[in-house]
Amino acid sequence: MKHVLPVSWTETGGRGRVGGVGLTELAVRFGTPLVVVDDSHLEDRLARFRAAFGPDAGLTYAGKAFLCGALVRILARKGWLVDVVSGGELELVRRAGFPMRDVILHGNAKSAAELERAIDCGVGRVVIDHPAEVDDLRRAAAAEESDHRPDLLLRLNVELTPETHEKVRTVGPGTHFGMSPAVAATVARRIAGAGGWRLTGVHIHAGSQIRDAALFSRVAEAAVDFVAPLRLCFPETVDLDLGGGLAAPYRAGEEVPSPRRYAEALQAGLRRSNAEARLGTYRLIVEPGRSVIANAGLTLYTIHARKRLDGAAEALAVDGGLSDNPRPSLYGASYEALNASRALGETGRTFRVVGRHCESGDVVVPSATLPADTEVGDVLAIPGTGAYVFAMSSRYNGVGRPAVIFVRDGAAREVIRRETDDDLLACDLALGSPEAARIARPFSVAAVPPSRAR
Ligand code: LLP
Repeated sequence: MKHVLPVSWTETGGRGRVGGVGLTELAVRFGTPLVVVDDSHLEDRLARFRAAFGPDAGLTYAGKAFLCGALVRILARKGWLVDVVSGGELELVRRAGFPMRDVILHGNAKSAAELERAIDCGVGRVVIDHPAEVDDLRRAAAAEESDHRPDLLLRLNVELTPETHEKVRTVGPGTHFGMSPAVAATVARRIAGAGGWRLTGVHIHAGSQIRDAALFSRVAEAAVDFVAPLRLCFPETVDLDLGGGLAAPYRAGEEVPSPRRYAEALQAGLRRSNAEARLGTYRLIVEPGRSVIANAGLTLYTIHARKRLDGAAEALAVDGGLSDNPRPSLYGASYEALNASRALGETGRTFRVVGRHCESGDVVVPSATLPADTEVGDVLAIPGTGAYVFAMSSRYNGVGRPAVIFVRDGAAREVIRRETDDDLLACDLALGSPEAARIARPFSVAAVPPSRAR
Protein backbone atom coordinates (compact mmCIF):
# COMPACT_ATOMS: atom_id res chain seq x y z
CA MET A 1 0.00 0.00 0.00
CA LYS A 2 2.86 2.39 0.83
CA HIS A 3 3.76 3.07 -2.81
CA VAL A 4 0.34 4.59 -3.53
CA LEU A 5 0.68 6.98 -0.55
CA PRO A 6 2.53 10.30 -0.39
CA VAL A 7 6.18 10.07 0.72
CA SER A 8 5.58 12.00 3.94
CA TRP A 9 2.94 9.50 5.05
CA THR A 10 3.41 8.44 8.68
CA GLU A 11 1.25 6.70 11.22
CA THR A 12 1.00 7.99 14.79
CA GLY A 13 -1.07 6.07 17.29
CA GLY A 14 -2.54 4.10 14.39
CA ARG A 15 -3.71 7.26 12.60
CA GLY A 16 -2.44 8.46 9.21
CA ARG A 17 -0.63 11.77 8.76
CA VAL A 18 0.61 13.53 5.64
CA GLY A 19 3.13 16.35 5.74
CA GLY A 20 3.11 15.97 9.51
CA VAL A 21 -0.61 16.78 9.76
CA GLY A 22 -3.31 14.36 10.87
CA LEU A 23 -5.91 13.58 8.21
CA THR A 24 -8.88 13.87 10.55
CA GLU A 25 -7.58 17.24 11.79
CA LEU A 26 -7.46 18.42 8.19
CA ALA A 27 -11.02 17.23 7.63
CA VAL A 28 -12.23 19.15 10.69
CA ARG A 29 -10.32 22.30 9.83
CA PHE A 30 -11.07 22.49 6.08
CA GLY A 31 -14.17 20.33 5.65
CA THR A 32 -14.65 17.51 3.15
CA PRO A 33 -14.38 16.53 0.38
CA LEU A 34 -10.84 17.80 0.55
CA VAL A 35 -7.90 17.30 -1.79
CA VAL A 36 -4.66 17.06 0.19
CA VAL A 37 -1.37 17.43 -1.68
CA ASP A 38 1.94 16.50 -0.09
CA ASP A 39 4.36 19.24 -1.03
CA SER A 40 7.38 17.07 -0.30
CA HIS A 41 6.07 14.23 -2.48
CA LEU A 42 5.68 16.64 -5.35
CA GLU A 43 9.19 18.00 -4.92
CA ASP A 44 10.55 14.49 -4.58
CA ARG A 45 8.99 13.53 -7.93
CA LEU A 46 10.30 16.68 -9.63
CA ALA A 47 13.78 15.86 -8.30
CA ARG A 48 13.57 12.23 -9.44
CA PHE A 49 12.67 13.29 -12.97
CA ARG A 50 15.53 15.80 -12.98
CA ALA A 51 18.01 13.21 -11.72
CA ALA A 52 16.80 10.70 -14.32
CA PHE A 53 16.84 13.07 -17.30
CA GLY A 54 19.74 15.39 -16.44
CA PRO A 55 20.03 19.17 -16.42
CA ASP A 56 19.54 19.74 -20.16
CA ALA A 57 16.23 17.95 -20.69
CA GLY A 58 13.15 20.14 -21.07
CA LEU A 59 11.13 18.74 -18.21
CA THR A 60 7.61 19.96 -18.81
CA TYR A 61 4.73 19.47 -16.40
CA ALA A 62 1.45 18.62 -18.15
CA GLY A 63 -0.86 21.16 -16.56
CA LYS A 64 -4.00 19.22 -17.45
CA ALA A 65 -3.26 16.74 -14.65
CA PHE A 66 -3.74 19.44 -11.99
CA LEU A 67 -2.93 23.10 -12.05
CA CYS A 68 -3.04 25.92 -9.52
CA GLY A 69 -1.01 29.04 -8.83
CA ALA A 70 0.92 27.50 -5.93
CA LEU A 71 2.01 24.55 -8.06
CA VAL A 72 3.04 26.74 -10.99
CA ARG A 73 5.31 28.75 -8.67
CA ILE A 74 6.99 25.55 -7.45
CA LEU A 75 7.53 24.46 -11.07
CA ALA A 76 9.10 27.83 -11.91
CA ARG A 77 11.50 27.54 -8.95
CA LYS A 78 12.53 24.06 -10.05
CA GLY A 79 13.22 25.10 -13.64
CA TRP A 80 10.39 23.09 -15.19
CA LEU A 81 8.39 24.10 -18.24
CA VAL A 82 4.58 23.86 -18.31
CA ASP A 83 2.31 22.55 -21.05
CA VAL A 84 -1.13 24.13 -21.34
CA VAL A 85 -4.04 23.21 -23.56
CA SER A 86 -6.46 26.13 -23.34
CA GLY A 87 -6.73 29.86 -22.86
CA GLY A 88 -7.83 29.18 -19.28
CA GLU A 89 -4.72 27.18 -18.39
CA LEU A 90 -2.60 29.76 -20.18
CA GLU A 91 -4.13 32.55 -18.13
CA LEU A 92 -3.60 30.67 -14.87
CA VAL A 93 0.07 30.15 -15.66
CA ARG A 94 0.50 33.77 -16.77
CA ARG A 95 -1.11 35.17 -13.64
CA ALA A 96 1.13 32.97 -11.51
CA GLY A 97 4.06 34.90 -13.00
CA PHE A 98 5.50 31.92 -14.87
CA PRO A 99 8.01 32.78 -17.64
CA MET A 100 5.92 32.53 -20.81
CA ARG A 101 8.87 31.42 -22.95
CA ASP A 102 8.77 28.19 -20.89
CA VAL A 103 5.16 27.45 -21.82
CA ILE A 104 4.16 24.95 -24.51
CA LEU A 105 0.68 25.40 -25.97
CA HIS A 106 -1.08 22.23 -27.11
CA GLY A 107 -4.57 21.57 -28.41
CA ASN A 108 -6.32 20.00 -31.37
CA ALA A 109 -8.97 22.75 -31.61
CA LYS A 110 -7.28 25.98 -30.58
CA SER A 111 -9.46 29.03 -31.14
CA ALA A 112 -8.31 32.21 -32.84
CA ALA A 113 -8.62 33.96 -29.47
CA GLU A 114 -6.37 31.38 -27.80
CA LEU A 115 -3.74 31.68 -30.50
CA GLU A 116 -3.87 35.48 -30.29
CA ARG A 117 -3.47 35.34 -26.54
CA ALA A 118 -0.54 32.94 -26.89
CA ILE A 119 1.15 35.37 -29.28
CA ASP A 120 0.31 38.36 -27.11
CA CYS A 121 1.76 36.92 -23.93
CA GLY A 122 4.86 35.49 -25.59
CA VAL A 123 4.32 31.73 -25.31
CA GLY A 124 7.57 29.94 -26.14
CA ARG A 125 6.31 26.97 -28.15
CA VAL A 126 3.14 26.03 -29.97
CA VAL A 127 2.48 22.44 -31.02
CA ILE A 128 0.82 22.37 -34.43
CA ASP A 129 -1.90 19.73 -34.52
CA HIS A 130 -3.05 20.03 -38.15
CA PRO A 131 -1.87 21.78 -41.33
CA ALA A 132 -4.36 24.70 -41.28
CA GLU A 133 -3.12 25.75 -37.87
CA VAL A 134 0.01 27.31 -39.35
CA ASP A 135 -2.17 29.85 -41.16
CA ASP A 136 -4.32 30.30 -38.05
CA LEU A 137 -1.16 31.28 -36.20
CA ARG A 138 -0.07 33.69 -38.94
CA ARG A 139 -3.48 35.36 -38.74
CA ALA A 140 -3.23 35.54 -34.94
CA ALA A 141 0.16 37.27 -35.16
CA ALA A 142 -1.22 39.72 -37.72
CA ALA A 143 -4.30 40.42 -35.59
CA GLU A 144 -2.07 41.12 -32.59
CA GLU A 145 0.30 43.20 -34.74
CA SER A 146 3.00 41.29 -32.90
CA ASP A 147 6.51 40.30 -33.89
CA HIS A 148 6.51 37.42 -31.44
CA ARG A 149 6.92 34.09 -33.21
CA PRO A 150 6.63 31.04 -30.93
CA ASP A 151 8.75 28.07 -31.88
CA LEU A 152 6.66 25.48 -33.71
CA LEU A 153 6.57 21.73 -33.16
CA LEU A 154 4.59 19.32 -35.30
CA ARG A 155 2.42 16.75 -33.54
CA LEU A 156 2.73 13.30 -35.09
CA ASN A 157 0.20 10.54 -35.01
CA VAL A 158 2.36 7.45 -35.40
CA GLU A 159 1.38 3.84 -35.90
CA LEU A 160 1.70 2.53 -32.37
CA THR A 161 -0.97 0.98 -30.16
CA PRO A 162 -0.06 1.61 -26.52
CA GLU A 163 -1.52 -0.78 -23.99
CA THR A 164 -3.75 1.45 -21.92
CA HIS A 165 -7.40 2.40 -21.61
CA GLU A 166 -8.69 3.20 -25.10
CA LYS A 167 -9.97 6.58 -23.93
CA VAL A 168 -6.48 7.77 -23.07
CA ARG A 169 -4.66 6.34 -26.10
CA THR A 170 -3.65 9.23 -28.35
CA VAL A 171 -1.85 7.60 -31.28
CA GLY A 172 -2.82 4.92 -33.71
CA PRO A 173 -6.08 3.87 -35.30
CA GLY A 174 -9.19 5.75 -34.28
CA THR A 175 -7.41 8.67 -32.61
CA HIS A 176 -7.73 12.27 -33.71
CA PHE A 177 -4.55 14.01 -32.57
CA GLY A 178 -1.74 15.27 -34.74
CA MET A 179 -0.82 14.40 -38.31
CA SER A 180 0.43 11.32 -40.06
CA PRO A 181 4.18 11.52 -40.72
CA ALA A 182 3.45 12.01 -44.45
CA VAL A 183 1.20 15.02 -43.86
CA ALA A 184 3.53 16.43 -41.20
CA ALA A 185 6.48 16.20 -43.63
CA THR A 186 4.59 18.41 -46.10
CA VAL A 187 3.87 20.93 -43.36
CA ALA A 188 7.52 20.88 -42.24
CA ARG A 189 8.73 21.72 -45.74
CA ARG A 190 6.12 24.43 -46.10
CA ILE A 191 7.08 26.18 -42.85
CA ALA A 192 10.80 25.89 -43.53
CA GLY A 193 10.31 27.17 -47.11
CA ALA A 194 8.13 30.13 -46.18
CA GLY A 195 10.48 31.66 -43.61
CA GLY A 196 9.47 33.91 -40.73
CA TRP A 197 8.57 31.06 -38.38
CA ARG A 198 10.94 28.61 -36.74
CA LEU A 199 10.01 24.96 -36.94
CA THR A 200 12.02 23.64 -34.00
CA GLY A 201 10.84 20.11 -33.53
CA VAL A 202 8.32 17.31 -33.29
CA HIS A 203 5.95 16.10 -30.65
CA ILE A 204 4.50 12.65 -29.97
CA HIS A 205 2.25 11.90 -27.02
CA ALA A 206 1.27 8.25 -27.29
CA GLY A 207 -1.18 8.11 -24.40
CA SER A 208 -1.53 8.07 -20.65
CA GLN A 209 -1.14 5.52 -17.82
CA ILE A 210 1.39 3.52 -19.86
CA ARG A 211 3.05 0.79 -17.83
CA ASP A 212 5.20 -0.80 -20.52
CA ALA A 213 8.45 1.18 -20.71
CA ALA A 214 9.31 -0.40 -24.08
CA LEU A 215 6.55 1.68 -25.67
CA PHE A 216 8.52 4.84 -24.85
CA SER A 217 11.52 3.48 -26.77
CA ARG A 218 9.32 3.08 -29.83
CA VAL A 219 8.02 6.63 -29.45
CA ALA A 220 11.62 7.93 -29.44
CA GLU A 221 12.46 5.88 -32.54
CA ALA A 222 9.41 7.18 -34.38
CA ALA A 223 10.41 10.78 -33.65
CA VAL A 224 13.96 10.26 -34.91
CA ASP A 225 12.77 8.44 -38.03
CA PHE A 226 10.52 11.38 -38.85
CA VAL A 227 13.07 14.14 -38.28
CA ALA A 228 16.14 12.54 -39.89
CA PRO A 229 15.12 12.87 -43.56
CA LEU A 230 13.84 16.41 -42.93
CA ARG A 231 16.77 17.51 -40.79
CA LEU A 232 17.40 20.65 -42.87
CA CYS A 233 13.93 21.98 -42.06
CA PHE A 234 14.92 22.33 -38.39
CA PRO A 235 17.47 24.59 -36.64
CA GLU A 236 20.78 23.35 -35.26
CA THR A 237 19.15 22.01 -32.10
CA VAL A 238 15.97 20.10 -32.82
CA ASP A 239 13.30 19.61 -30.12
CA LEU A 240 12.20 16.01 -29.60
CA ASP A 241 9.13 16.40 -27.42
CA LEU A 242 8.14 12.85 -26.56
CA GLY A 243 5.05 13.68 -24.52
CA GLY A 244 4.01 12.23 -21.17
CA GLY A 245 2.24 9.02 -20.31
CA LEU A 246 4.21 7.35 -17.53
CA ALA A 247 1.80 5.40 -15.33
CA ALA A 248 1.14 6.01 -11.63
CA PRO A 249 0.28 3.23 -9.16
CA TYR A 250 -3.28 3.27 -7.83
CA ARG A 251 -3.68 -0.10 -6.11
CA ALA A 252 -1.62 -2.02 -3.59
CA GLY A 253 0.85 -4.24 -5.42
CA GLU A 254 0.57 -2.32 -8.70
CA GLU A 255 4.00 -1.75 -10.20
CA VAL A 256 4.92 1.00 -12.64
CA PRO A 257 8.25 2.10 -14.16
CA SER A 258 10.24 4.71 -12.21
CA PRO A 259 11.25 8.03 -13.81
CA ARG A 260 14.73 6.51 -14.24
CA ARG A 261 13.38 3.49 -16.08
CA TYR A 262 11.27 5.84 -18.21
CA ALA A 263 14.34 7.94 -19.08
CA GLU A 264 16.35 4.83 -19.87
CA ALA A 265 13.62 3.54 -22.18
CA LEU A 266 13.56 6.82 -24.11
CA GLN A 267 17.37 6.90 -24.28
CA ALA A 268 17.41 3.31 -25.51
CA GLY A 269 15.06 4.27 -28.35
CA LEU A 270 17.22 7.26 -29.23
CA ARG A 271 20.33 5.08 -29.28
CA ARG A 272 18.65 2.34 -31.31
CA SER A 273 17.57 4.81 -33.94
CA ASN A 274 21.03 6.34 -34.03
CA ALA A 275 19.74 9.77 -33.05
CA GLU A 276 23.11 11.39 -32.53
CA ALA A 277 24.49 10.43 -35.92
CA ARG A 278 21.27 11.13 -37.81
CA LEU A 279 20.12 14.30 -36.04
CA GLY A 280 23.20 15.95 -34.58
CA THR A 281 22.18 18.18 -31.68
CA TYR A 282 18.75 17.62 -30.18
CA ARG A 283 16.95 18.59 -26.99
CA LEU A 284 14.82 15.96 -25.28
CA ILE A 285 11.52 17.23 -23.88
CA VAL A 286 9.08 15.15 -21.85
CA GLU A 287 5.69 16.14 -20.49
CA PRO A 288 4.75 14.02 -17.49
CA GLY A 289 1.59 14.94 -15.59
CA ARG A 290 0.07 11.97 -13.78
CA SER A 291 3.39 10.43 -12.70
CA VAL A 292 4.38 13.73 -11.05
CA ILE A 293 1.26 14.53 -9.08
CA ALA A 294 -1.08 11.49 -8.77
CA ASN A 295 0.43 9.96 -5.65
CA ALA A 296 1.19 13.31 -4.02
CA GLY A 297 -2.54 13.70 -3.55
CA LEU A 298 -5.30 12.05 -1.61
CA THR A 299 -8.97 12.92 -1.17
CA LEU A 300 -10.74 12.99 2.18
CA TYR A 301 -14.47 12.30 2.40
CA THR A 302 -16.84 12.10 5.35
CA ILE A 303 -19.19 9.13 5.54
CA HIS A 304 -22.79 10.35 5.59
CA ALA A 305 -24.63 7.05 5.52
CA ARG A 306 -24.00 3.35 6.10
CA LYS A 307 -26.59 0.96 4.85
CA ARG A 308 -27.16 -2.65 3.96
CA LEU A 309 -27.79 -3.37 0.30
CA ASP A 310 -29.40 -6.44 -1.23
CA GLY A 311 -27.50 -9.52 -0.15
CA ALA A 312 -24.51 -9.20 2.18
CA ALA A 313 -23.05 -6.00 0.75
CA GLU A 314 -22.96 -2.82 2.77
CA ALA A 315 -22.56 0.66 1.33
CA LEU A 316 -20.82 3.68 2.78
CA ALA A 317 -22.11 6.86 1.16
CA VAL A 318 -19.66 9.76 1.23
CA ASP A 319 -20.09 13.49 0.70
CA GLY A 320 -18.49 13.57 -2.76
CA GLY A 321 -17.93 11.22 -5.69
CA LEU A 322 -18.72 11.73 -9.34
CA SER A 323 -18.48 15.53 -9.14
CA ASP A 324 -15.02 15.66 -7.55
CA ASN A 325 -13.69 12.47 -9.20
CA PRO A 326 -15.28 11.28 -12.44
CA ARG A 327 -12.46 8.80 -13.15
CA PRO A 328 -14.20 5.66 -11.82
CA SER A 329 -17.22 6.40 -14.01
CA LEU A 330 -15.23 7.41 -17.07
CA TYR A 331 -12.42 4.87 -17.10
CA GLY A 332 -13.40 2.32 -14.48
CA ALA A 333 -10.48 3.68 -12.43
CA SER A 334 -9.91 1.86 -9.18
CA TYR A 335 -8.49 3.19 -5.90
CA GLU A 336 -7.65 2.05 -2.40
CA ALA A 337 -9.63 3.41 0.58
CA LEU A 338 -8.46 3.95 4.17
CA ASN A 339 -10.46 4.87 7.23
CA ALA A 340 -8.54 7.82 8.66
CA SER A 341 -10.68 7.90 11.80
CA ARG A 342 -9.78 4.39 12.98
CA ALA A 343 -6.50 2.64 13.67
CA LEU A 344 -4.88 1.84 10.35
CA GLY A 345 -4.34 -1.74 9.47
CA GLU A 346 -7.58 -2.69 11.20
CA THR A 347 -9.69 -4.46 8.63
CA GLY A 348 -12.64 -6.67 8.85
CA ARG A 349 -15.37 -5.87 6.41
CA THR A 350 -15.82 -5.18 2.75
CA PHE A 351 -17.84 -2.12 1.87
CA ARG A 352 -18.92 -0.49 -1.33
CA VAL A 353 -17.93 3.18 -1.07
CA VAL A 354 -20.47 5.16 -3.06
CA GLY A 355 -20.75 8.83 -3.91
CA ARG A 356 -23.59 11.25 -3.29
CA HIS A 357 -24.73 11.69 -6.86
CA CYS A 358 -27.90 10.48 -8.45
CA GLU A 359 -26.60 7.63 -10.55
CA SER A 360 -25.68 4.04 -9.89
CA GLY A 361 -22.31 4.55 -11.59
CA ASP A 362 -21.22 6.87 -8.80
CA VAL A 363 -19.09 4.32 -6.98
CA VAL A 364 -15.82 5.63 -5.50
CA VAL A 365 -14.41 2.20 -4.58
CA PRO A 366 -16.48 -0.90 -5.43
CA SER A 367 -14.92 -3.11 -2.79
CA ALA A 368 -12.97 -1.55 0.09
CA THR A 369 -11.76 -3.53 3.09
CA LEU A 370 -12.19 -1.32 6.15
CA PRO A 371 -12.63 -1.73 9.92
CA ALA A 372 -15.93 -3.44 10.68
CA ASP A 373 -16.95 -0.61 13.02
CA THR A 374 -16.56 2.04 10.29
CA GLU A 375 -19.38 4.46 10.95
CA VAL A 376 -21.15 7.59 9.85
CA GLY A 377 -18.91 10.61 10.54
CA ASP A 378 -15.66 8.71 9.89
CA VAL A 379 -13.25 10.21 7.40
CA LEU A 380 -12.17 8.09 4.44
CA ALA A 381 -8.95 8.79 2.54
CA ILE A 382 -8.59 7.82 -1.13
CA PRO A 383 -4.91 7.84 -2.16
CA GLY A 384 -3.61 8.45 -5.68
CA THR A 385 -6.08 11.22 -6.45
CA GLY A 386 -3.65 14.05 -7.22
CA ALA A 387 -3.92 13.77 -11.02
CA TYR A 388 -6.97 14.22 -13.27
CA VAL A 389 -9.30 14.38 -10.28
CA PHE A 390 -9.65 18.00 -9.19
CA ALA A 391 -8.76 18.96 -12.77
CA MET A 392 -11.76 17.01 -14.08
CA SER A 393 -14.19 17.90 -11.33
CA SER A 394 -17.60 19.38 -12.10
CA ARG A 395 -20.47 21.00 -10.24
CA TYR A 396 -22.91 18.21 -10.98
CA ASN A 397 -25.98 18.19 -8.75
CA GLY A 398 -25.10 21.67 -7.53
CA VAL A 399 -22.13 20.44 -5.53
CA GLY A 400 -19.26 22.94 -5.48
CA ARG A 401 -15.71 21.84 -6.13
CA PRO A 402 -13.62 20.87 -3.08
CA ALA A 403 -10.82 22.86 -1.49
CA VAL A 404 -7.21 21.90 -2.18
CA ILE A 405 -4.56 22.16 0.49
CA PHE A 406 -0.81 21.63 0.41
CA VAL A 407 0.76 20.13 3.52
CA ARG A 408 4.36 20.18 4.63
CA ASP A 409 6.34 20.06 7.90
CA GLY A 410 3.27 20.09 10.09
CA ALA A 411 1.60 23.01 8.31
CA ALA A 412 -1.37 23.12 5.93
CA ARG A 413 -1.73 25.80 3.28
CA GLU A 414 -5.03 26.26 1.48
CA VAL A 415 -4.24 26.80 -2.21
CA ILE A 416 -7.74 26.56 -3.70
CA ARG A 417 -10.73 27.39 -1.53
CA ARG A 418 -13.94 25.40 -1.58
CA GLU A 419 -16.58 26.64 -4.01
CA THR A 420 -19.53 28.30 -2.31
CA ASP A 421 -23.12 28.50 -3.46
CA ASP A 422 -22.36 32.06 -4.58
CA ASP A 423 -19.58 30.71 -6.82
CA LEU A 424 -21.98 28.13 -8.23
CA LEU A 425 -24.57 30.74 -9.07
CA ALA A 426 -22.25 33.54 -10.17
CA CYS A 427 -22.91 33.00 -13.88
CA ASP A 428 -26.67 32.59 -13.57
CA LEU A 429 -27.91 35.94 -14.79
CA ALA A 430 -31.47 35.45 -13.57
CA LEU A 431 -30.49 35.20 -9.93
CA GLY A 432 -29.96 38.74 -8.82
CA SER A 433 -26.44 39.26 -10.07
CA PRO A 434 -25.59 42.83 -11.10
CA GLU A 435 -25.91 41.72 -14.71
CA ALA A 436 -29.43 40.38 -14.26
CA ALA A 437 -31.07 43.67 -15.11
CA ARG A 438 -29.15 43.85 -18.35
CA ILE A 439 -30.55 40.56 -19.60
CA ALA A 440 -34.03 41.00 -18.16
CA ARG A 441 -35.12 42.17 -21.62
CA PRO A 442 -36.42 39.35 -23.85
CA PHE A 443 -33.68 37.90 -26.05
CA SER A 444 -33.77 39.21 -29.58
CA VAL A 445 -32.02 37.41 -32.42
CA ALA A 446 -31.57 40.76 -34.13
CA ALA A 447 -29.17 41.70 -31.31
CA VAL A 448 -26.64 39.08 -32.44
CA PRO A 449 -23.96 40.75 -34.57
CA PRO A 450 -24.14 39.31 -38.11
CA SER A 451 -20.49 38.21 -37.98
CA ARG A 452 -21.32 35.88 -35.08
CA ALA A 453 -24.60 34.54 -36.44
CA ARG A 454 -23.34 31.66 -38.48
N1 LLP B 1 1.18 15.76 -23.16
C1 LLP B 1 0.02 15.73 -23.84
C2 LLP B 1 -0.04 16.32 -25.18
C3 LLP B 1 -1.10 15.13 -23.29
O1 LLP B 1 -2.24 15.09 -23.98
C4 LLP B 1 -1.02 14.56 -21.99
C5 LLP B 1 -2.20 13.93 -21.38
C6 LLP B 1 0.20 14.64 -21.30
C7 LLP B 1 1.29 15.24 -21.92
C8 LLP B 1 0.38 14.10 -19.91
O2 LLP B 1 0.16 12.73 -19.83
P1 LLP B 1 0.40 11.98 -18.43
O3 LLP B 1 1.88 12.02 -18.12
O4 LLP B 1 -0.36 12.70 -17.39
O5 LLP B 1 -0.10 10.61 -18.68
N2 LLP B 1 -8.09 12.18 -17.92
C9 LLP B 1 -7.34 10.97 -18.13
C10 LLP B 1 -5.94 11.26 -18.62
C11 LLP B 1 -5.92 12.07 -19.91
C12 LLP B 1 -4.52 12.41 -20.38
C13 LLP B 1 -4.59 13.45 -21.41
N3 LLP B 1 -3.34 13.85 -21.94
C14 LLP B 1 -7.32 10.17 -16.84
O6 LLP B 1 -7.87 10.61 -15.84
O7 LLP B 1 -6.79 9.07 -16.82
